[in-house]
Amino acid sequence: MEPSLPEALLTDPGLQARAAEVLAHDGDRAPLALRKAGVEPALAAAALTLADLRRHARPKFGDLADRLYFTRAGLEQATRWPVAVRRASRFAASAGEVTDLCCGLGTEALAFAQAGLEVEAVEMNEATAGFAKANAAALDLPVRVTVADALQTPLAESAFADPARRSGGTRNFNPADYSPSLDPLLTRLRTTRFAAVKLGPGISHDWIPEGAEAEWVSVDRDVVEACLWLGEAAQTPRRASLLKSGTWHELTGTGEERAEVGEVADYLYEPDGAVIRAGLIAELAEDLNAHMGSEDIAYLYGDTLTETAFARAWKVEEVWPLHPKKLKPLLAERGIGRLTIKQRGTGIDPATLRKQLKLKGPEEATLVATRLAGAHVAILCSEA
Ligand SMILES: C[S@@+](CC[C@H](N)C(=O)[O-])C[C@H]1O[C@@H](n2cnc3c(N)ncnc32)[C@H](O)[C@@H]1O
Repeated sequence: MEPSLPEALLTDPGLQARAAEVLAHDGDRAPLALRKAGVEPALAAAALTLADLRRHARPKFGDLADRLYFTRAGLEQATRWPVAVRRASRFAASAGEVTDLCCGLGTEALAFAQAGLEVEAVEMNEATAGFAKANAAALDLPVRVTVADALQTPLAESAFADPARRSGGTRNFNPADYSPSLDPLLTRLRTTRFAAVKLGPGISHDWIPEGAEAEWVSVDRDVVEACLWLGEAAQTPRRASLLKSGTWHELTGTGEERAEVGEVADYLYEPDGAVIRAGLIAELAEDLNAHMGSEDIAYLYGDTLTETAFARAWKVEEVWPLHPKKLKPLLAERGIGRLTIKQRGTGIDPATLRKQLKLKGPEEATLVATRLAGAHVAILCSEA
């Protein structure tokens, strides 16, 4: 059951500010501080919950968090504000109206309205819909919120859907278990000219419909979602969109190319997770003039250092066999006491390897455990 937003809290910005203040200064004693100030217990609890959720919302919403209303479940599922804003600008470039299906707290609807679209936001849960209404009012944005089932409601010329991927406190990884289930939702969305649906980043490529664009989005190296673009909205088979330090970077391609496989080289590139999930390693390899070391492992190697937002680059210092006993003296010789261990394709456990290496010394390095030409190797790297 989603909690409702008490009217007395909604209409009292003074109480909201006081709750944030006492929470920051009094911690566990904050409820007592509010009650001493004459706030009745249920209202004090709601005000403190809101203040706490606003603090937790800052990574997703920045300063906007202080003006919005959240539930815990709604915040967990909400789109990061810059991701919603970017998606909204893509809709606004092609449509004048949008239906936001499964609007939750209304994040996407707010971004659509801010981008100038006429928005109808649809949410099945009445209490959650109340929060979406409150959020639209808080930002003074014209969003019409309707309590209805996403599969029944009429759609505007464009539509976006963000089906629920959690139920009973657990995450559903299978789109057939989303609410609503992905298949009927896609059927519904296909009736509009321009549509998109947000999915979990781990979605299998089998779910990508013919002719759709599949986009993976990462924020500061964390892959946060996949999005299928349908109808006129599909511009390319695959896209990786990366937000890094406030700037967006995009890589597109077919997702079907294969990068060449070759030898280890002077630089090792670790592609961003969005590039890997989108299957755009070959496109990135071409941009970097690099190749793979193994056809199933997403590391690239190149002789030149090319600056890129799509991968982290490392300078290759040494290539050793992946044997803890052999590695231990080699690392000790170099005085390496702090080691970041990365692994792909070897099945080793970095924590176990670290214990075996008994590191000591003032130097710092990165060790990449991987496979090259079928052999398990440990590549000692430094920052490029
Ligand atoms: C992932 S959340 C939406 C988050 C929202 N886009 C945001 O960024 O704030 C999914 C929402 O879909 C709602 N929902 C689930 N099934 C629905 C249905 N059949 N029709 C309408 N809403 C539904 C849930 O109540 C939940 O609030």
